Amino acid sequence: MSRTTLSPARILERCEALAALTEEEGRLTRTFLSPQHRAASELVGQWMAAAGMSARVDAIGNICGRLEGERPGLPCLMLGSHLDTVRDAGKYDGMLGVVAAIECVADLRGRGTRLPFAVEVIGFADEEGVRFGSTLLGSRAVAGTFQPEVLEITDRDGVSMAHALRRAGLDPAAIPTAARRRGGVLAYAELHIEQGPVLEDEGLPVGVVTAINGATRLAVEIAGMAGHAGTVPMNLRRDALAAASECVLEVERICRATPELVGTVGQIEARPGATNVIPGAARFSVDVRSPRDAERREAVRSIESAIQDIAARRKVKATITPMHEGKTAACAPWLMEQLGAAIEAEALPVRKLPSGAGHDGMAMAELTDIGMLFVRCERGISHHPAEAVTQADVETGTRVFLRFIENFRPHGGKS
Ligand code: GLV
Ligand code: MN
Ligand code: MN
Repeated sequence: MSRTTLSPARILERCEALAALTEEEGRLTRTFLSPQHRAASELVGQWMAAAGMSARVDAIGNICGRLEGERPGLPCLMLGSHLDTVRDAGKYDGMLGVVAAIECVADLRGRGTRLPFAVEVIGFADEEGVRFGSTLLGSRAVAGTFQPEVLEITDRDGVSMAHALRRAGLDPAAIPTAARRRGGVLAYAELHIEQGPVLEDEGLPVGVVTAINGATRLAVEIAGMAGHAGTVPMNLRRDALAAASECVLEVERICRATPELVGTVGQIEARPGATNVIPGAARFSVDVRSPRDAERREAVRSIESAIQDIAARRKVKATITPMHEGKTAACAPWLMEQLGAAIEAEALPVRKLPSGAGHDGMAMAELTDIGMLFVRCERGISHHPAEAVTQADVETGTRVFLRFIENFRPHGGKS
């Protein structure tokens, strides 16, 4: 690799600029198709254009940039990550991967490098699933696995996904056009912060991901009976929130019983929501993950039957809706090898590790082979405003990623 023009300072400045696009005063929250999300896509589109790429928004709202290879129309190496965030998010989960990929393209273009394949960068519109509960919407559309049923899901303001798309100037009926042809994509590679403490513990700036753990998400509705908090005796109540609380503890108990299985209730809501009213309805989310799909499915079955037992005993009604099911996605050994070679070329050891967090690669694995490069983050903190990376690690991660892109050989291809 000849001398590069990579600027880790510019990458961090751009992450700051994206962090300023937030729906909530004083904290970073940017959900699928919000005005701030659309502004983020537009800004990223400008950076793509400045890096010499053509840029367009596809039918689901992904911002897609493309740099042609030696001749127009060649299959591409696809790079990317997501531009949506959790509520009260950090600045790097997702955004770092998009911005670092654009920086690599800018460098290739700036040095006049012509590759025997095209390079595309995608800022996926929804990976976190915060607004509609259904996740990986952007990458599923690209992989051709978007389920049209999810268009009817409503957000907490009662706006359906189809309506939100139309409001953003997008046509839900056109989503199939976002899907890519298998032969048109040689591989998908993503740079992402680790979101865990392993690399920091071992004093390493980067690592190669082996697999992304599978995940199930459920939405649970409990229907009980609202009533006067002062007049209904305890034994005659059908308190939906008390039933939901017992379910939360059951999720914890079941998931504690198996190593590496994790379960979380991250959202809970009681209605009507007044101090002096017994909650008549409650709604909560369940998120279950494991590196082993069979164990995850077994845990989900146990959780579902525990919820129904609790509901029957408490004389409330439980309705469980599956919101997301993503099986464990293995990274391709040939891409792990090429990422590893790029790390070794920087005179660093190659640490391989699984990802406990979900990523767009889970959806992209249905379309093409996937590879991921992790960059160390401070104290393993993520999904939290204290998420942090050092400029030195961003520089190392981006250099490794650039080297990987420049030396990329399609599976079975010659160097
Ligand atoms: C996304 O970051 C997830 O792992 O839920
Ligand atoms: Mn995340
Ligand atoms: Mn992420």
